[in-house]
Amino acid sequence: MQIKVYCDHHLQSKAAADQIAELLLWNSSALLCFATGDTPKLTYELLVERLMNEKIDISKCFFIGLDEWVAVSKDDTGSCHWFLHHYLFEPLNIPASQIHLFDANAEDLQAECRKMNDLIRYKNGIDLMLVGVGMNGHIGFNEPGTKEDGLAHVIDLDATTLSVSKKYFNGEMQASKGITLGLGQFLSAREVIMMASGSKKAPIMKMALEGETGTQVPASLVRNHRNASVVLDKEAAEGLQLISQNLFQ
Ligand code: PGA
Repeated sequence: MQIKVYCDHHLQSKAAADQIAELLLWNSSALLCFATGDTPKLTYELLVERLMNEKIDISKCFFIGLDEWVAVSKDDTGSCHWFLHHYLFEPLNIPASQIHLFDANAEDLQAECRKMNDLIRYKNGIDLMLVGVGMNGHIGFNEPGTKEDGLAHVIDLDATTLSVSKKYFNGEMQASKGITLGLGQFLSAREVIMMASGSKKAPIMKMALEGETGTQVPASLVRNHRNASVVLDKEAAEGLQLISQNLFQ
């Protein structure tokens, strides 16, 4: 695991976008898994800009979503579905044939999980996964205590996630469950970028990077990943002892 700390959110986002673009330059048929949320928005804008400017070929890439709010409509601007289409797929003109997202309105959610697991297996694993970190340390909707080797599953959202979720939805948020890739899929992705920004994430990043490693803080498992970059802005890195080791980029 490598920790990179940037002076501001723009530089942090640029670094993450460049890391993704560089993978795409040598692997034009990558399987990519992208998180939603406030943290990676600017990364996606900068990634779109670079891919377009340099005409990087992504016509053979395949995109999967990390998670979704169960029973929330795909058209709701708070849904992960809407977010990925708005920030990535539409600006990049990615056809539906290169995308698979959880259908969180499906009657059989277990079948949705199997479909996602089978697809990842069929495509020989995830090449790159970009994740944010929740205020409770979750990755995707892998809430504290979720098992380490899990695959896609449906989960009860915890109180922190439910309370934070209000920021994504204009009105009331109806979901009490999420559907998500599992920590096993996070740990076996060939490359991981974990991002956190802002001082509100500093306490959980300190726990994740300097506390005990374990499923009580799912983000701490990044330390067990063989090819992970933790990309922070300086506010999210506040209080890390590691900071004194000259990590600023
Ligand atoms: P955020 O969400 O990027 O909106 O802070 C992160 C997460 O909950 O995974």
